[in-house]
Amino acid sequence: MRENDFDNLLELLASPASMPADAWRRLLAEPDYGQRRQLALLARGVAQSNFSTGVYVRALIEISSYCRNNCNYCGLRCANKLAQRYRLGKDEILGCCRFAATLGFNTFVLQGGEDPVQGDEWLADVVAAIRSEFPEKAITLSVGERTSEGYSLLRNAGADRYLLRHETANAGHYSMLHPHSMSQANRLRCLADLKRLGYQVGAGMMVGSPGQTAEHLVEDLMLLDELQPQMIGIGPFIPATGTPFAGEQPGSVELTLQLISLLRLRFPKALIPATTAVATLCDDGTERAVLAGANVVMPNVTPPSYCEKYTIYDNKKNNGSESAQQLDVLAGKLDKIGYFIDYSRGDFNGGSSARSAVK
Ligand code: 5AD
Ligand code: SF4
Repeated sequence: MRENDFDNLLELLASPASMPADAWRRLLAEPDYGQRRQLALLARGVAQSNFSTGVYVRALIEISSYCRNNCNYCGLRCANKLAQRYRLGKDEILGCCRFAATLGFNTFVLQGGEDPVQGDEWLADVVAAIRSEFPEKAITLSVGERTSEGYSLLRNAGADRYLLRHETANAGHYSMLHPHSMSQANRLRCLADLKRLGYQVGAGMMVGSPGQTAEHLVEDLMLLDELQPQMIGIGPFIPATGTPFAGEQPGSVELTLQLISLLRLRFPKALIPATTAVATLCDDGTERAVLAGANVVMPNVTPPSYCEKYTIYDNKKNNGSESAQQLDVLAGKLDKIGYFIDYSRGDFNGGSSARSAVK
């Protein structure tokens, strides 16, 4: 792309003005090698001016591998007979929180499949117990689609944040990735409810999921501009044994990193994790994601005997930088690139939305 055009696009990206589809299209497809490098350097600079060289950590607790849904990409889909199932009880979850607290974590993330046994009331009771034992800690939930009443109950019980990726902004692509029982309309309803209830909300998509085109990614970026999520999680698609997409190719790490940089430039204060999927496909994935503009890592505190069963995709990494037991590994990796672990709660701190309202 001509240097002038590229500079204009970068200026637009950093401005409150709306981004036309074509601007995203060109930023995704056209930069040459030097311009891609420039994108990463700029994104890193923006992250550092907002978060210094700190990377927030969240303790990830995988509370159930049961799921009533049947997403075509996910190893935990209910039709996958090869999946090993477990669910943690209230005391086990509290035990994980206590362990995480001794390690210095200030955010707990409870993530799980849509397990009917862990319904709204049950989970609200667990959240309330965590809240009363740890009044100062942030509680994040990532437990799928629920009713407005369910989200409200959980919020009142003390949950602060909620991760629910939109997966893809394109309705046709959404139906290709999901069974008929799921709809994009309901996913967007959930995200709107969560926002209305005052959660800090995380959205995001897989990169390189089967059937995804560059145009779908443009739609994803436009949807994120509309949603203004406080957290944005993206990671490459990775095939999972026992699913309809088991034989598909994984998504591109390079493209994921490029997207992290574009997101950092567009959402300077957003919380953007270096996801496990990037670390799974690439040994130095965590470091590369941080250098591309990511500022969160979510090490696992689930007991190893359980977390090895939480296989949303094959070979999911659960050691080294992804394991809370090995925080020193993460600290060492970050230190090598000039970063450090920031143990504070790391709330979103960008006013009412990730940028000034974009209309
Ligand atoms: N590859 C990569 N990411 C996946 N997820 C689920 N299955 C896969 C897969 N096969 C992601 C989805 C989901 C998040 C918890 O994990 O985006 O929202
Ligand atoms: Fe269940 Fe989530 Fe996997 Fe879909 S992506 S099958 S909702 S755990």
